[in-house]
Amino acid sequence: MKITDTSDVWWKTAVVYCLDVETFMDWNDDGCGDFEGLAQRLDYLAELGVTCLWLMPFYPTADVDDGYDITDFYGVDPRLGTHGDLVEVVRTANDRGMRVIADLVVNHTSNKHPWFRSAESSIDSPYRDFYVWRSDPPPDTSSEVVFPDKENSIWQLSEKTGEWYLHRFYRQQPDLNVTDPKVRDEIAKAMGFWLELGLSGFRMDAVPFLLETSGTDRAEARRLPDPHEFLRQLRSFVGRRTGSGVLLGEVNLPHPQQAQFFGGENGNELTMLFDFLSMQYLYLSLARADAGPLAQALTARPKVSPDNQWATFVRNHDELTLDKLSDAEREAVFAAFGPDPSMQVYGRGLRRRLPPMLDGDPRRIRMAYSLLFSLPGTPVLFYGEEIGMGEDLDLEGRMAVRTPMQWTSGVNGGFSRAPKRRLRRPVVSGGYGPEHVNVADQRTDPDSLLSFMKLLIRRYRECPELGWGEFELLDQPHADVLAHQCRWEDGTMVAVHNLGAEPRSVPLTLDGCDSTHRLEDLLQDGSTPLSDKGKAELRLEGYGYRWLRVTSADSRRLV
Ligand code: NOJ
Repeated sequence: MKITDTSDVWWKTAVVYCLDVETFMDWNDDGCGDFEGLAQRLDYLAELGVTCLWLMPFYPTADVDDGYDITDFYGVDPRLGTHGDLVEVVRTANDRGMRVIADLVVNHTSNKHPWFRSAESSIDSPYRDFYVWRSDPPPDTSSEVVFPDKENSIWQLSEKTGEWYLHRFYRQQPDLNVTDPKVRDEIAKAMGFWLELGLSGFRMDAVPFLLETSGTDRAEARRLPDPHEFLRQLRSFVGRRTGSGVLLGEVNLPHPQQAQFFGGENGNELTMLFDFLSMQYLYLSLARADAGPLAQALTARPKVSPDNQWATFVRNHDELTLDKLSDAEREAVFAAFGPDPSMQVYGRGLRRRLPPMLDGDPRRIRMAYSLLFSLPGTPVLFYGEEIGMGEDLDLEGRMAVRTPMQWTSGVNGGFSRAPKRRLRRPVVSGGYGPEHVNVADQRTDPDSLLSFMKLLIRRYRECPELGWGEFELLDQPHADVLAHQCRWEDGTMVAVHNLGAEPRSVPLTLDGCDSTHRLEDLLQDGSTPLSDKGKAELRLEGYGYRWLRVTSADSRRLV
């Protein structure tokens, strides 16, 4: 792999930024963010160093699940703008060096989608087979629902025909039936449409549920004996249409199944997968000040083909799920970061953002983001993380972390000039409100979290080892320290993070290095010599962190 190849497989070293147009920037003063507002903020995102925007659903919606219940796969929600406004954003983002991907939510439609309206009207509807029906009363499926606060079955009786339809999420989100070739064609066609408008791929929602065919009858299931074949088809379709488009999948499953969704050794299914397991164990490590759980999760990752990548994150728009931890582990994370039941949701997750969970301690917050960006993979940020936004626990469920972006210390945090009561969602108030946490103030402050995030992003982009390289844990004696290196071609990058409050002196031995090598600090000034056996001793403050590039006398790499 050459440095020039990193542009073909751009997503291996991308910095992804997830945002919801409706809560990002309101330009027409109606209280709802819009594409025009986003266009105004593209320079900010480019300056931050983002290289790929992930837009949460912007399609027409019945708005039961914040846009994840779509009524038209080809439309743009009129509150956000028009197709023209979207294209302007994509074009301008491209000019600023950023690609745009969007949520592809095709496990289900809204129950207000014309397909479902037709399907539920009669068993003879041409769209009946687009969904999954059963005529006999369903068994108890209360343990299978995704949103246990609202649902107790994955089957809903449709009065009109007296049959039940499958819905993995809310009852207003009937599942599509991918065993029907017409459904698969419709999905690909919708993808082709958005790719034609300039998108560089999709964040694929709920992929395991999309592929699941267990609710269908045998004859139906026979039409798609291997549901993964559908993913392979979609990957090759996106490849054919764009050359470099990406499928970033939501697959929160144990490692062996994740490997399968990558396409195994062939790597020909999802391009990238969110690393839900490392995320969960990272929180356990932070809670216990013990690097062990994270180290284990990272080393247990299945090896993926060069055509695949892990997407790393510490926060997304949903509950911070801890579902893969044992009960005791989850309780430890709850106790550390969300002890009050109001901070928890669905019995498995937290509805807080990172800074309040870390008691606003700037050392820990920076250490956590330094760790995130130093992990092997492609980092994904959720809007507002770069300035350290907090949550609003008065909002329902997952909405706690989906509050408007805080641009200034002014009215409505600069998000909108509409009267407060008309805002799509209230702006956070209190200690994490815009008076204390906003972009405008942090932009001009070299010591702000925003400035620190810019530095991290710049360094991440300068270290293709992180996106491409071989990951290796480095032996050292402290349980609360994670030391690792990533090597790629002739480059090696070493990162050391102290998850504990006590200062540590960390002895390291780097294979293949001697006194002709040095460790150059990448996040601060300074460098450390290595002994003729490749040894060095690194000092870390409590919650300290260092990124170091291994250089040799003849290295032509810029530091
Ligand atoms: C996963 C999305 O991240 C979540 O926000 C949504 O509610 C469900 N899928 C259903 O689309």
